Amino acid sequence: MILKTPFITFEGTDGAGKSTQIALLKEWLVSHGISVVLTREPGGCETAEAIRELVLSNKSDLGSRGELLLYLAARAENVRQVILPALEQGSWVISDRYADSTFAYQGYGRGLELVELMNLNAIATGGIMPMKTILLDIDVAVGKERVMKGRSELDRLEQSSLDFFERVRHGFLKLADTDSNRFVVVHADKSVDEIQQKIRNALTPYLHGHS
Ligand code: TYD
Repeated sequence: MILKTPFITFEGTDGAGKSTQIALLKEWLVSHGISVVLTREPGGCETAEAIRELVLSNKSDLGSRGELLLYLAARAENVRQVILPALEQGSWVISDRYADSTFAYQGYGRGLELVELMNLNAIATGGIMPMKTILLDIDVAVGKERVMKGRSELDRLEQSSLDFFERVRHGFLKLADTDSNRFVVVHADKSVDEIQQKIRNALTPYLHGHS
């Protein structure tokens, strides 16, 4: 399926600063007269947010396969209920995490077979993939420190070991390497403004007709 408007995703290990950058990007796009719909994964609509509660809860006893299928079920509803309708109405869609999180966390992190994940993801999404993916790459220890700031409790995923997050980070970088047309890798050791500028530079070519 050819998408008329840009579908952008943000990826990275926990604590990479995606939400701050997404909010700034939205502000900039709106100032160019672009209608923007934000969503997140797991989540985005009521059904997927209910799945989010389940998958992130410390009370859930989930193996890698159960976890995978919950993320994919949430994605299927996010695509059907939020992403596709917004793109069809001519909005840009920005999703805080999407398919690459599954490849990095469940594939490189948990050790599930990447090709199988890609096939299952295609079933969940009907083949909808982002036009651009911004990967905010951060040292995992720094990311973890950021996540822990001001929090009394970590969710099920955040409690994973640094070793797990190292594998996920490496996975994201490998995915970016093999699909360098789609990925924009920004190292998150810079200031918020510098990172935002790099993201805007990468998206400027898509503003055509809106500036
Ligand atoms: P969230 O609180 O949204 O994390 P962040 O603020 O870092 O984006 O929690 C989502 C967690 O779920 C995060 O640890 C990454 C993980 N995840 C997967 O393991 N697989 C997936 O397919 C998705 C979308 C997320």
